[in-house]
Amino acid sequence: MVDVVFEKVQKKFGHVVAIPGLDLHIRSGEFVSLLGPSGCGKTTTLRMLAGLEHPTEGRIRIGEREVNNVAPGSRDIAMVFQSYALYPHMSVRENIAYPLKKRGVPKSEHATRIKAAADLLQLGPLLDRKPKELSGGQQQRVALGRALVREPKVFLLDEPLSNLDAKLRAHMRSELIELHRRLGRTMVYVTHDQLEAMTMSTHIAVMHGGELQQFGTPSEIYNRPVNTFVASFIGTPSMTLVPAELLAEGGLKLKLGAHVFDLPDDVVEARPDRVAPITLGIRPEVIEVGHGPGVAKVRIVEPTGHETIVILDIDGEDVTARISGDTALKAGETVKFDLRRDRLHFFDAGSGRRLNRDIRP
Ligand SMILES: Nc1ncnc2c1ncn2[C@@H]1O[C@H](COP(=O)(O)OP(=O)(O)OP(=O)(O)O)[C@@H](O)[C@H]1O
Ligand SMILES: [Mg+2]
Repeated sequence: MVDVVFEKVQKKFGHVVAIPGLDLHIRSGEFVSLLGPSGCGKTTTLRMLAGLEHPTEGRIRIGEREVNNVAPGSRDIAMVFQSYALYPHMSVRENIAYPLKKRGVPKSEHATRIKAAADLLQLGPLLDRKPKELSGGQQQRVALGRALVREPKVFLLDEPLSNLDAKLRAHMRSELIELHRRLGRTMVYVTHDQLEAMTMSTHIAVMHGGELQQFGTPSEIYNRPVNTFVASFIGTPSMTLVPAELLAEGGLKLKLGAHVFDLPDDVVEARPDRVAPITLGIRPEVIEVGHGPGVAKVRIVEPTGHETIVILDIDGEDVTARISGDTALKAGETVKFDLRRDRLHFFDAGSGRRLNRDIRP
């Protein structure tokens, strides 16, 4: 079993505290994405795991072994960077063979290992070409191949798809998912692209300002974000966050602008005394347009084909809704709407912390 564990890991660069204190347990065989905006500490975390940066405090374990003082080359990991850094004067075959040579793997094994990697990544016909004779996606696959031949216990990937165009990125995403399924190795993947993280990962670690915000499956992160940061970072179009109030007047009610909606009594952890200011989170699919007790003005209609994104003005607040593509709605119209009360997100207005009661564990 090759779990990867960060225990109270801190990293400072001079007085810049990049990572104040990270606790993270990645289980063997998982595909974990480190996800967050630029500067949140993703690369620093990955580089500490690779041994390219030394933690200021705390411990990092790979499998049973504490690796704080283990050199990068002895950690049994392979890292793929955003820039593939292939050797331009070497052929694909030589590029892939390079780590084997460097590590003194017996020559008799090279051909078998290169063939296995090339087959997996469909590089067979390209083995004799130079990197400049390859497309971006093919170069990316060679970089992966070079990591793969080493047969490491853990793969580290830092935004490996960011240089590729949208179509190739989607294709490589599927290939990486397939690769992970076939190899069953632990993979740690850095990205600021929430769609990549959502589609590929078994677990996502959402980071912000060097701090881990939430660690969970894509579904947990999407359906039960722990705070407004995670809520707004995940999902396209983003969740709308608007100021609102919870009222306890007989039953529990939600006040949004001039609208008051009844709520199930048990949707929040703690009932407010009378009134509690909150931040209300509404995912685009949670607002129903065309019927219901609410009245809104249609501000913007954005058809995308199979669905249409509509920005509604609800008492002066912009709220994004996702509706079917064949709508006849026009900007400027007035429409009825409803909210799916069991799928709203409630956050503390001050701290941004989630207030929903979670029915499932
Ligand atoms: N060598 C360094 N010296 C000083 N500060 C650094 C150094 N490396 C990183 N930092 C700082 O640490 C923080 C985290 O940087 P890091 O590169 O880990 O972010 P990131 O999440 O990978 O961002 P990006 O998405 O832009 O790659 C940033 O504030 C950055 O400026
Ligand atoms: Mg980075």
